[in-house]
Amino acid sequence: MSLEPFSPPTGEWYHPDEELVKNTHVPDYDALYQEAMTDIEAFWAKQAEALEWYEPWERVLDSSEAPFYKWFIGAKTNIVHNALDRHTKTWRRNKLALIWEGEQGDRRSMSYWRLWQETNRFANVLKSMGINKGDRVTIYMGRIPEIMIAMLACAKIGAVHSVVYGGFSEQALADRIEDAQSRVLVTADGAWLRGGIVPLKETADEAVRRSPVVESVIVVKRTGQDIHMEPGRDYWYHDLINLPIASTKCETEVMDAEDPLFILYTSGTTGKPKGVLHTHGGYQLYTSTTLKWVFDMKDDDRWWCAADPGWITGHSYIVYGPLILGATSFMYEGAPTHPYPNRWWRMIEDYGITILYTAPTAIRGLMRFGDAWANRHDLSSLRLLGSVGEPINPEAWRWYHTVIGKERCPIMDTWWQTETGGFIIAPMPSVPLKPGSATRPFPGLDVDVVDEAGNACAPGEDGYLVIKNPWPSMLRTIFGDPDRYVEQYWHRYEAQGWYLAGDSARKDEDGYIWVIGRIDDVIKVSGYRLGTAEIESGLVSHPAVAEAAVIGIPDEVKGNHIEAYCILVADAEASDSLVEKLKDHVRHEVGPIAVPTRISFVDSLPKTRSGKIMRRVLKARALGLPEGDLSTLED
Ligand code: PRX
Repeated sequence: MSLEPFSPPTGEWYHPDEELVKNTHVPDYDALYQEAMTDIEAFWAKQAEALEWYEPWERVLDSSEAPFYKWFIGAKTNIVHNALDRHTKTWRRNKLALIWEGEQGDRRSMSYWRLWQETNRFANVLKSMGINKGDRVTIYMGRIPEIMIAMLACAKIGAVHSVVYGGFSEQALADRIEDAQSRVLVTADGAWLRGGIVPLKETADEAVRRSPVVESVIVVKRTGQDIHMEPGRDYWYHDLINLPIASTKCETEVMDAEDPLFILYTSGTTGKPKGVLHTHGGYQLYTSTTLKWVFDMKDDDRWWCAADPGWITGHSYIVYGPLILGATSFMYEGAPTHPYPNRWWRMIEDYGITILYTAPTAIRGLMRFGDAWANRHDLSSLRLLGSVGEPINPEAWRWYHTVIGKERCPIMDTWWQTETGGFIIAPMPSVPLKPGSATRPFPGLDVDVVDEAGNACAPGEDGYLVIKNPWPSMLRTIFGDPDRYVEQYWHRYEAQGWYLAGDSARKDEDGYIWVIGRIDDVIKVSGYRLGTAEIESGLVSHPAVAEAAVIGIPDEVKGNHIEAYCILVADAEASDSLVEKLKDHVRHEVGPIAVPTRISFVDSLPKTRSGKIMRRVLKARALGLPEGDLSTLED
């Protein structure tokens, strides 16, 4: 555990401004936390009144088949009703739901009314292609408004979306299509990134070749470059939504609160990605409540969550959470440094962004270019900042706070996961901050740091992060693999009924939680979660490689970078050109984010007697640290 790039508590405090606290939704965190913990079910039932339900619930929580918890049993709903439909009947119909800027500088914006109409049109297209309630649709696109429309259209008709991040490549996409058994794939001809084009359609074609369960491919024309369109399989998005069947009226499917909303694949211990499943009812309540309180979302805010819609952060806090609250969101297509490192700051000034939510890796990446790029712009519209995805080191925290927030804006460091659906440990503007800590649990959650046996760790002591009670937006299962769901998250503390997060952490004497890093074979690279097994199988799929092991090494900007150790097959020769070929191979098979920075060729790998690679030993050696307990080492 101590090998993680963890910055210890510095003892610094940041106290919120009294004026700011007075006007927030939750001026007293402690009181609200107390209220919630007194009766958790009553607490969530009360918050659920902020939403509209087609039919009310009979019971808030059903634990009879734990850990397969159910929330709002008997309630009828659809997340799109609360995210769009209801707003079209109020003044919000004219409010901007989305302001968007392309990397090339093109701009679009959509009112709630317009977004609702576009969603309806595409929902009708999907229906006409035979997509019904419960069917899966894979979405593979860049950061353009259509990704949001496609997700909402699926949800509207009760289909289950599976968004695959546009940075993934052929095999990763093919595996996810195959696992979800999607008959329809929605993609784009390409995406703009750093002035170039990411060839999404080319990758999609290869993925569909490998996973032929896809019958139809819908293609958004984004870049306009030449692409192959397979007759009878591929259709242009703009052609379809202009057909008479694509009317702007579409009934919203009445769903059970526990009906599936989406699958989102995330990396775990094995090479097979896990399809984390979320549902309509509890998820909409939790994402909207957490966003409202942690980021104090108000009607006149301009919210910018700079994540990709293809990750959970985008699902919960670009698409669903903000729309349910009727907020105005900003979305940007491209790279933060294109064409110059002032791009983000220029857009904050141009659009009057009031809240910026991003990842430490992006902050460190921009910090590298110095203060002048930010100082050139008027950032006074900002009132709150946020961080997610990995621990934020105090140096990046201070830069973000001083240079971007001008020492006025508190930083909401939010700890959560694909599996949790929403913030689990996070402050609110009224909570005093300690740079580097996500502070304390959200009301309604009992979070702790415990040892192997489940005893609470003493302040400052490393242990496992656990969540001790269910919450509305918890994952319901792993798609198609309920045993893995139980094994992965609930097995370790079965007797206590606690959720194992897979992170190590410390709690300090004030009850603040400091997340250290993953305890499993997951590497966080630039905030992206990658399984060592997925990268290793990418390497081994190259004919020259017999065996491979990858590890994460602390990196100043990315948090971690990847180093790989490969055993070659007998007739392959180690060379610099082979290193380049292998990097290229991983780029194609898994995606650019998974490419190792260094590849070394070795004759053997440290393994346990049962044949499991001891990555811990490789990592200790690479960092020049003690190798620890070697008693299980085979050789
Ligand atoms: O290790 C923790 C880290 O990211 C993991 C979850 O990754 P993912 O499912 O991709 O979701 C990321 C966005 C919610 C966690 O197990 N992590 C996330 N947020 C933080 C964090 N580590 C420290 N501080 C955070 N604020």
